[in-house]
Amino acid sequence: MPRAHVRHPVFARIYAKASRSMEREVGEHRSRLLTGLSGRIVEVGAGNGMNFTHYPPEVTSVVAVEPEPYLRRLAWEEALRAAVPVKVVDGIAEQLPLDDAEFDAGVASLVLCSVRHPAIAMAELFRVIRPGGQLRFYEHVRATSPRLSRVQRAMDATVWPSISGGCHAHRDTGTAIAEAGFIIEQMDSLRVPDTRLSPPTSPHIIGVATRPR
Ligand SMILES: C[S@@+](CC[C@H](N)C(=O)[O-])C[C@H]1O[C@@H](n2cnc3c(N)ncnc32)[C@H](O)[C@@H]1O
Repeated sequence: MPRAHVRHPVFARIYAKASRSMEREVGEHRSRLLTGLSGRIVEVGAGNGMNFTHYPPEVTSVVAVEPEPYLRRLAWEEALRAAVPVKVVDGIAEQLPLDDAEFDAGVASLVLCSVRHPAIAMAELFRVIRPGGQLRFYEHVRATSPRLSRVQRAMDATVWPSISGGCHAHRDTGTAIAEAGFIIEQMDSLRVPDTRLSPPTSPHIIGVATRPR
């Protein structure tokens, strides 16, 4: 059984600040990620709740799962600012405290790089999203360029994951989504930040996958 304990006190404080300053660039991707959603939504690893104000009014409820205590507290505060009802709960993506097929859609943003067991987390998302429901994803991923991919792999073998809240730069999350049984309907590649010199975590994917009926 995956460990439910996630504590990254230093990273959490840094991320809480950084995510606000990144909002100018990332905010448009968050809005795009959530556009068109409706009904009951589960968001895994919601952090300090940066997606909450981007949910469209057709969403009737969001259950936001966040294991890190400092970020979860901030998410509770952020939930009060959202235009849709958001309930923030403790839990990990690998062991969601939720019923089968309970949700019309799931949301994963900048989180599948950090979970300890991506395949188990994907299986859990598949379980709680109803047949025909969607997974919306926005994640930084393994580079297609061999040079940057090598840099990412080397980085993951250093202290990077332990200083960055468990983040791994070299994950092939698009493949993991498909391997979990989702059908990828749409997936675009982005560079974030979109600068000439790409940091190793700049290759991103954004898209929509469906749990087959
Ligand atoms: C980079 S932050 C992204 C937060 C948020 N999703 C966003 O878009 O800003 C990564 C998040 O994943 C969470 N996390 C780490 N391991 C997790 C796990 N096993 N299950 C669920 N969330 C996890 C962290 O606590 C953190 O909130």
